[in-house]
Amino acid sequence: MIRTAFFDAKEYDIPAFESFGKEKDIEFKFFETKLGSDTVELARGFDAVCVFVNDDVNGKVIDELYSYGVKLIALRSAGYNNVDIRHAFGKIHVVHVPAYSPYSVAEHAMALLLTSVRRIHKAYNRTRDFNFSLNGLTGFDLHGKTVGVIGTGRIGRIFIDICRGFGMNVLAYDKFPAPDSSIEYTGLDELFEKSDIISLHCPLTDETRHVIGMDAVGKMKKGVVIINTSRGALVDAEALLEGIKERKIGAACLDVYEEEADLFFEDRSGHILNDDVLARLISMPNVIVTSHQAFLTEEALRNIASTTVSNIRSYFDNDGMCDNELCYHCGEIEQCRKERKNRCF
Ligand code: NAI
Repeated sequence: MIRTAFFDAKEYDIPAFESFGKEKDIEFKFFETKLGSDTVELARGFDAVCVFVNDDVNGKVIDELYSYGVKLIALRSAGYNNVDIRHAFGKIHVVHVPAYSPYSVAEHAMALLLTSVRRIHKAYNRTRDFNFSLNGLTGFDLHGKTVGVIGTGRIGRIFIDICRGFGMNVLAYDKFPAPDSSIEYTGLDELFEKSDIISLHCPLTDETRHVIGMDAVGKMKKGVVIINTSRGALVDAEALLEGIKERKIGAACLDVYEEEADLFFEDRSGHILNDDVLARLISMPNVIVTSHQAFLTEEALRNIASTTVSNIRSYFDNDGMCDNELCYHCGEIEQCRKERKNRCF
């Protein structure tokens, strides 16, 4: 039996993990609290920890886990910016779920866009109050508009397909463009200048942090719609707010927010929100915020649980070999042992 400490557990996570875990002889102990410096002690005596996007797996936490004999950090997400993988290298192996349902996120991005440009959120509230007026609800057609997609991986490409279905023109930027695709790649500046809508689908790295900042907003078209379903810190929230106040940005659709860690996934109604930037953004008529729910479909939850469980099982069964292991060398043919069909260290 592999004992796994499961942090930041939510009621929608538990059934699938329990049932897949039972099949593969993995016992999960579910903790509601997030993993961080103050809670790492809970992982004592476990073989593995299972974490999500807002667990803070920093160097100090990794050292503690290592000293307890924890062998594996199993992310139940695709993104891994919250784990110091450089620090983990040589100590604890890290696995993730590279793909569970890219459709869930791409479809949510389109749901946010349609809601925003057709003012569905406004209409929903109005008609519930028997207010059938149309004033202020004028939207615009997506057909013929140009969408700029930053990051053309699994999710970005599905989002591109959906946009093409709407008759939109697609421009894309990726640090590693797909050579064999029909995607029209361009530089970031040109994408900012020409896009009516910009959607972010790249990972959060030192390079992409605040890719949407003051400078980028300055280059954009007036009325541009910004969609972020990737990671909050891709967007400088203060620059976004300024752009909205100056009427430069026409609308923002945010499923993620830079400072979301202590807020998102929790019921904070009845509390005073201390984050003035988020409060101001939410108060804007042209901003829609969902709390990191783009992944939340039945299909994705099932895939997340089954892949995480097989990642854990295959790590412990195959002498540390697991296809979904990652390290800070991954992707570099010369340096990455995994590229040579080995474990990362
Ligand atoms: P992926 O790894 O398939 O694609 C990422 C793409 O970004 C790749 O094509 C890569 O070349 C590109 N990229 C890397 N560095 C870049 C840079 N500096 N500039 C521009 N492009 C760059 O990842 P996938 O599965 O498409 O996911 C994208 C992001 O979506 C994840 O990193 C994650 O942050 C986010 N996500 C959000 C979820 C949510 O619930 N809101 C759920 C799942 C993922």
